[in-house]
Amino acid sequence: MTSQNLTNPSKVHLIDHPLVQHKLTLMRRKDASTNTFRTLLNELSMLMAYEVTRDMPMQDVEVETPLETATFKVIDGKKLVFVSILRAGNGILEGMLSVVPGARVGHVGLYRDPKTLMAVEYYFKMPHDMQEREVVVVDPMLATGNSAIAAVERLKQLNPKSIKFVCLLTCPEGIAALHKAHPDVHIYTASIDRELNSHGYILPGLGDAGDRIFGTK
Ligand code: URA
Repeated sequence: MTSQNLTNPSKVHLIDHPLVQHKLTLMRRKDASTNTFRTLLNELSMLMAYEVTRDMPMQDVEVETPLETATFKVIDGKKLVFVSILRAGNGILEGMLSVVPGARVGHVGLYRDPKTLMAVEYYFKMPHDMQEREVVVVDPMLATGNSAIAAVERLKQLNPKSIKFVCLLTCPEGIAALHKAHPDVHIYTASIDRELNSHGYILPGLGDAGDRIFGTK
């Protein structure tokens, strides 16, 4: 599936760079070790940070080079907040922060009720002055969309300048659900997989991202 088949294609950014696709393929293998999975996720997160920050606002600064003084561009990393949806989102944070070390970090704790698959909030901690910041929500899997929808809903109460959503992979159902609830949110993903199964897992997918990052299974 390409982003052309979606209802809101201009807000879905498929990161199809060969390096990203290669690393994602290696992560999907069921015999990839926890260490390999985590290392690849870290590398992939740096590459995805590159895409998601592409249109970040820049400001002019004067720099004295060895030859003369001139004006150049810098980003203001402090304006950016990476919001991790616990716990799997933390697997993306390290890579993102190594590319934008000045960024602030927020955490949203949500668990999926195994029966209803709905998101239940148990933790929410954000930096102050959210109305001055650009938010990038991170979660490796956009599956049912329930956690993403709940996190974005909660974040919108703080009135940030913008909200983007970054995941490793998603499926048509996840994109449709998030965009139905929040059509303004840009989604960045390395893959749009075939479908969601009845247990809320993405197919072919890569299994339970949290378990694979933290070695809990
Ligand atoms: N969460 C996961 O970790 N994997 C899926 O396939 C769906 C949701």
